[in-house]
Amino acid sequence: MRLHDFALERFFARWEFEAEMLLCASDVEAWPVREVVALADDDGIRRWDELTLGYTESPGDPALRAEIASLYETITADDVLVFAGAEEAIFALHNVLLGPSDHAVVVRPAYQSLSEVARAAGAEVSRVDLHEADAWRLDVGEVSDAIRSNTRLILLNEPHNPTGGLTNRETFDAVAALAAESGARLIVDEVYRFLEFDTADRLPAGADVSENGVSIGVMSKSFAMAGLRIGWVATRDRDLLARLAAFKDYTTICNAAPSEILALIALRARDRVLERNRAIIASNLSLLDEFFGRWGGVFEWSRPRGGSIGFPSLVAGAPVDAFADDLVRETGVLILPGTVFGDTGNHFRLGFGRTNMPEALARLEGFAARRFGPR
Ligand SMILES: Cc1ncc(COP(=O)(O)O)c(C=O)c1O
Repeated sequence: MRLHDFALERFFARWEFEAEMLLCASDVEAWPVREVVALADDDGIRRWDELTLGYTESPGDPALRAEIASLYETITADDVLVFAGAEEAIFALHNVLLGPSDHAVVVRPAYQSLSEVARAAGAEVSRVDLHEADAWRLDVGEVSDAIRSNTRLILLNEPHNPTGGLTNRETFDAVAALAAESGARLIVDEVYRFLEFDTADRLPAGADVSENGVSIGVMSKSFAMAGLRIGWVATRDRDLLARLAAFKDYTTICNAAPSEILALIALRARDRVLERNRAIIASNLSLLDEFFGRWGGVFEWSRPRGGSIGFPSLVAGAPVDAFADDLVRETGVLILPGTVFGDTGNHFRLGFGRTNMPEALARLEGFAARRFGPR
């Protein structure tokens, strides 16, 4: 298997720890370990205090899997397999489900591994565009047209990276129906689930939609604990889970013991975890609304509907790669040019999950004022 470079990760490898402020991070302000431990109930404290650093159960700690299962409507602990982040889950899923005679349908733009691992596994991949003019939604007809007799999976990402878009229920149900009719499996990358700005917009989980539907989840985004490297696959398809478990024997074997217990503690206290994370996002979003109100004609965006990122465009003429490069060198603020997602529309990714976003945005605004005149 030959993987192409992961453009976003190579970009971050250059800048993530050199830029002073990330105005493009997709995660939410990371929780300090001591604050996570402080959330623990008595059982959580006991598990943390008595933790030993041996190998852990390969599918994931049973209590953690039960807690993950409680995020879904139809899922039990035995329907969950824990991985090292969503990234390992994506890698395993594509490798187990796809080979040279198979076909996959994946949205565009997308987090690169969602299409690249499928391609590298030998499958043909059709991309279906999300349309900015329609709040970054899919066109069901385009999904239907993309499906072939050998289509094994249709992959959505809701809420979506990098746009912050969220498909409406009608479209989601129509895509799920297409998957069911064609025998393709619906896989939904739900790493930003629970960060919908209006909870009424939350979509059903992929794993709850059908017997062979799949949800990909992670502690990194909505729960703001990327350093745990705890992600999972949830599905009622036990045969698929068994094949994934066998694949995992060749990747990480089992998960980090401290991470499993911290994830368990955090998920048991998820209401408080999510409340804190959503509050950071809501406060940053109101600043962004004002910013884009002032800067129409230079920057434009389709306001996100969930998650911690959005995908505005620079409409004032300059190529966004050069703009981003000048910005980080002059102000220390990093934005992510959309070109790393293969975008040709001069978009860039903005992240609004970090507590230093107001300062980073102020620096972007100062830079823009010097370049385009004040607003
Ligand atoms: C849509 C999507 N899926 C999967 C991942 C991978 O998550 P993790 O790095 O926590 O494994 C990311 C990370 O940015 C993502 O945005």
